Amino acid sequence: MEYAHAFVEKWDELIDWERRAESEGGFFIELLRAHGCRKVLDVATGTGYHSVQLLRAGFEVTSVDGSATMLAKAFENAHRHGYILRTVQADWRWLRRDVHDFYDAVICLGNSFTHLHNENDRRKALAEYYAVLRHDGILILDQRNYDAILDKQIEPSHKYYYCGEHVSATPEYVDETLARFRYSFSDGSVFHLNMFPLRKAYVQRLMKEVGFQRVTTYGDFQETYRDTEPDFFIHVAEKKYVSTHGEESS
Ligand SMILES: C[S@@+](CC[C@H](N)C(=O)[O-])C[C@H]1O[C@@H](n2cnc3c(N)ncnc32)[C@H](O)[C@@H]1O
Repeated sequence: MEYAHAFVEKWDELIDWERRAESEGGFFIELLRAHGCRKVLDVATGTGYHSVQLLRAGFEVTSVDGSATMLAKAFENAHRHGYILRTVQADWRWLRRDVHDFYDAVICLGNSFTHLHNENDRRKALAEYYAVLRHDGILILDQRNYDAILDKQIEPSHKYYYCGEHVSATPEYVDETLARFRYSFSDGSVFHLNMFPLRKAYVQRLMKEVGFQRVTTYGDFQETYRDTEPDFFIHVAEKKYVSTHGEESS
């Protein structure tokens, strides 16, 4: 998996968690509470931001990442904030090999799902998320709004700003199979990331195809510099069975 650790270090160094919390607000916490979730599996822990926010809010959290380096970093960050992370190193594509418990919610946040470049991997990962959920559990997965970029409503030169002026991201190259972004940081450093340009309707369809019954998609959770199109989408996929007659499992 392509993930530059130096990039993440830089991100964490320049965008501190307090600033991030300001822009994201309590969006995910409110969503989880509204669905009655208590036990959460953070499958894209990264440096630990969401895991720590949720622990602080009183949720029971298990933190997964495919990268041992990331988990070590997350553990250290959480420790600094006064929390002990329960970590599991696991790949999404065979998550059930290492995660044997069941959860009220799986969260895959920070535009992480975009790192899977192969459709079979995307389907398998979603099926594994589905499998670790309780019968009425939910998956919360966010993604950048690639439709806006692919459909040219956004010029390739468009700059996305994160937390003010600290990082700007520009889609340098985009087609239906690759979105290459250039990230420039306020200290002058520059990184590139290759991502898969997930279309909103495509992700919703895959979620339904692996068995999720209902998918609700929200626009931005954060302030952006655009008035109309959101920069991010947040999908909430529900496992709870809904029959065609509207009957639900209890
Ligand atoms: C964007 S980062 C996570 C960011 C974090 N949620 C945040 O918002 O700060 C994406 C993470 O997903 C992990 N990842 C990518 N592909 C994975 C896979 N197939 N299985 C497990 N982890 C994976 C990477 O190691 C990385 O730490």
